[in-house]
Amino acid sequence: MGDLSGKVAVITGAGRGLGREEAIQLAQQGARVVINDIDLPDAKAAAEATVEEIRGFGGEAIAVYGDCADSGDAENLMKTTLDTFGDLNIMINNAGFCRDKTIFGMSDDEFDSVVRVHLRGHFVNMRNATAYWREKAKSGEEVYGRLISTSSEAAFYGSAGQPNYAAAKAGIIAMTMGAAQLMIKYGITANVIMPRALTDMTASGGTAEMFAPPEDGSFHKFDPVNVAPLVGYLASPEAAKISGEVMIVWGNQVQIAQRPTLHEPFINPKGEVKWDVADLHSTLANHYDENYMPVWGGFSVPPV
Ligand SMILES: NC(=O)c1ccc[n+]([C@@H]2O[C@H](COP(=O)([O-])OP(=O)(O)OC[C@H]3O[C@@H](n4cnc5c(N)ncnc54)[C@H](O)[C@@H]3O)[C@@H](O)[C@H]2O)c1
Repeated sequence: MGDLSGKVAVITGAGRGLGREEAIQLAQQGARVVINDIDLPDAKAAAEATVEEIRGFGGEAIAVYGDCADSGDAENLMKTTLDTFGDLNIMINNAGFCRDKTIFGMSDDEFDSVVRVHLRGHFVNMRNATAYWREKAKSGEEVYGRLISTSSEAAFYGSAGQPNYAAAKAGIIAMTMGAAQLMIKYGITANVIMPRALTDMTASGGTAEMFAPPEDGSFHKFDPVNVAPLVGYLASPEAAKISGEVMIVWGNQVQIAQRPTLHEPFINPKGEVKWDVADLHSTLANHYDENYMPVWGGFSVPPV
């Protein structure tokens, strides 16, 4: 069950946090793994340590450094993967960082850099992986492909202090759904996880206290290790029928997001195509009087 022997997986941002646990999980399931992280001393040391840990239990791993959102670095990641292991089967987009600010205080750079690392980071690696699989399928070869994207509950509910991050994470869902639709004919799946975990990203800021380990040393539901098995499952042959799904995952729970549902449409009571403002008001005010929906005021657990 979950056997990934012979499969090759790339995980971006896998030196630390969730990516690290996901890489270890896939290697434990038998995959040969490519650990990507940014070309900076701390990140490289962390990526090296992940590689060593995997080799320590007899797994196969290499590290490839580079910016997940840079086309040249992403091409190098793909090329090194194929040169080293001869194939690519599982592309896990995970890397990213936060620059939290409210929308009125956010600079262009804080917006652009976060959208870039998450959304463009997913884009360039999904493009390279899907192009490779498509070419392979067209030449008659058998293809095994799994795309796993990393979003956040901030994409569903917004996040008042993270407009850049919430927007990027929402874009990742839309992009992954499109990839799922496009690649289903090749038997390739694309899914999205929304994790919650105590990592460097969440250790400071508003969520730190909530994610802190229990003082009595009991089961730590926000240990990133709890997220990794779902990634291992979605990457596996057993999950072949699961595609275009979004799943919240933390602790001992996995929650499937229901696909968006729409209210019954309101039809212009005058029978004309174009509404006027007065009719819209009487129709919608009636509805909202009965279904008052205050703006979402926060999370039972804050999003990250
Ligand atoms: N921790 C949570 O609760 C949580 C919740 C929702 C979503 N996420 C998402 O999960 C993913 C992993 O987050 P984490 O909590 O493990 O954070 P983390 O900070 O522990 O790990 C992120 C990793 O990405 C790497 N990275 C950053 N920029 C990079 C770049 N340009 N190229 C390559 N690597 C880069 C970092 O060096 C680091 O190793 C992120 O996409 C994050 O948004 C996390």
